[in-house]
Amino acid sequence: MKISVIGAGYVGLVTGGCLAEIGHQVVCTDSDIVKIRTLESGSLPIYEPGLDAVIAKARRDGHLSFHENLADAVDFGEVIFICVGTPPLPNGDADLSAIDNVARLVATSARGPKLVIEKSTVPAQTGQELKRALSVYGRKSGITFLVASNPEFLREGTAVADFLHPDRIVVGVEDEIAERQLKEIYGPVLEGKFNCPIHAPACPAGPPPAWLVTTINSAELIKHASNSFLALKISYTNMVADLAERLGADIGEVTRAMGMDPRIGPSFLNAGLGFGGFCLPKDLQAFVHLAERSGVDFSLLKEAEKINRRRMDHFVEKIRRALWVIRGKKIGVLGLAFKPNTDDIRFAPAIDLIQLLVADGACVRAYDPEAMEKARTVLPKVEFAPSAYDAAQGAEALLIATEWEQFRRLDWERIRESMARPLVLDGRNMLSPLEMKTRGFEYFSIGRPD
Ligand code: UGA
Repeated sequence: MKISVIGAGYVGLVTGGCLAEIGHQVVCTDSDIVKIRTLESGSLPIYEPGLDAVIAKARRDGHLSFHENLADAVDFGEVIFICVGTPPLPNGDADLSAIDNVARLVATSARGPKLVIEKSTVPAQTGQELKRALSVYGRKSGITFLVASNPEFLREGTAVADFLHPDRIVVGVEDEIAERQLKEIYGPVLEGKFNCPIHAPACPAGPPPAWLVTTINSAELIKHASNSFLALKISYTNMVADLAERLGADIGEVTRAMGMDPRIGPSFLNAGLGFGGFCLPKDLQAFVHLAERSGVDFSLLKEAEKINRRRMDHFVEKIRRALWVIRGKKIGVLGLAFKPNTDDIRFAPAIDLIQLLVADGACVRAYDPEAMEKARTVLPKVEFAPSAYDAAQGAEALLIATEWEQFRRLDWERIRESMARPLVLDGRNMLSPLEMKTRGFEYFSIGRPD
């Protein structure tokens, strides 16, 4: 099928690349010409494991191209995926101006009927507004536009696998034509009929994705409700961790047992510095606003947000207790990205943490396997180390802010010898307190006996 993807950000690139991978003809465009030129030159503006190979292959096979001309790109597809950003406004609401711009662009550039699909995360009822906007902006053309919602559940770091092997595909539609077109688009994923770029020689056995057909409003609500629930789960765990700390219990033992209950499930029960990134924090805020505007008191979510904001004070207090005075101390930080396997630092807890430490007068030297380039611009007073060992060298404390797998496998004896004081504060509970003590470290983590 011929598909246009509008928005060459994270979601647009994964969507465009994977749709091409499963056999569709995809044209991807963006109002940011520099981004499109970067992509045309063969570079990716983001780090996402496996995505560079998927995009390079799709381009080689002639299944994917990047176009600067928005109008041409829009007219290419019989189906258009809207993958533009919906960043938070100062009041926390989602900024839908990019969606509005796309509606105008589509309505004025299309020369034939289109199915317009919302992939961007948007508040419920945006589909209705989109439909109205398309008919207002396109009133002179007489072209029919169908609208559908197809929320994505991609996680940064594993997005290609998430796209090709989803648990569920949710399609919010109002008519059979849109449903049929969406089923055709996702056919190869539903039937597992594509050459998987991630798993060789074969994909792990598992149930096929669930195909869920809902109303557009429900599909939009599913996305916000899912992300907000995940945020809630993390904040809940973090509060239990604080309690475990006071009571001498171990949060790891507690959540392990909790997670074995299928009604609770084991994921998103990791205590630590809290949730960041460009999805959970902003979606939670937008959901709170949506509830408020709809006259529903969802203060439960406000509490989850407040708990998340307090995580950093809690951790800085731990650092202060261990170091006594922060001013003038050399502190090494491992991890800058909001989570491992990405270079994304938007709303990253590590960045907030470093900013607080710098404001308190600490001399910070940081290392991240992928995110240093992006972090440089927001952390002008921070020194960036070429390796984790260099970040630790001469430091009076070493903090773990992102749980990159490679940090687990560091030569910790070497680190102990090189530090001015062998003190590690683990904001992600990735190391074992017992092992660290045996290796001769003072070691503090979250919700576990010190
Ligand atoms: C999130 C959702 O998980 C995806 O399903 C969704 O598609 C995506 O947002 C989106 O809306 O596009 P993502 O932002 O990639 O995905 O990151 P998560 O894996 O959800 O992690 C978010 C934050 O929570 C990270 O800072 C992570 O360190 C933190 N986290 C996660 C915890 O603190 N504890 C946990 O147990 C899990």
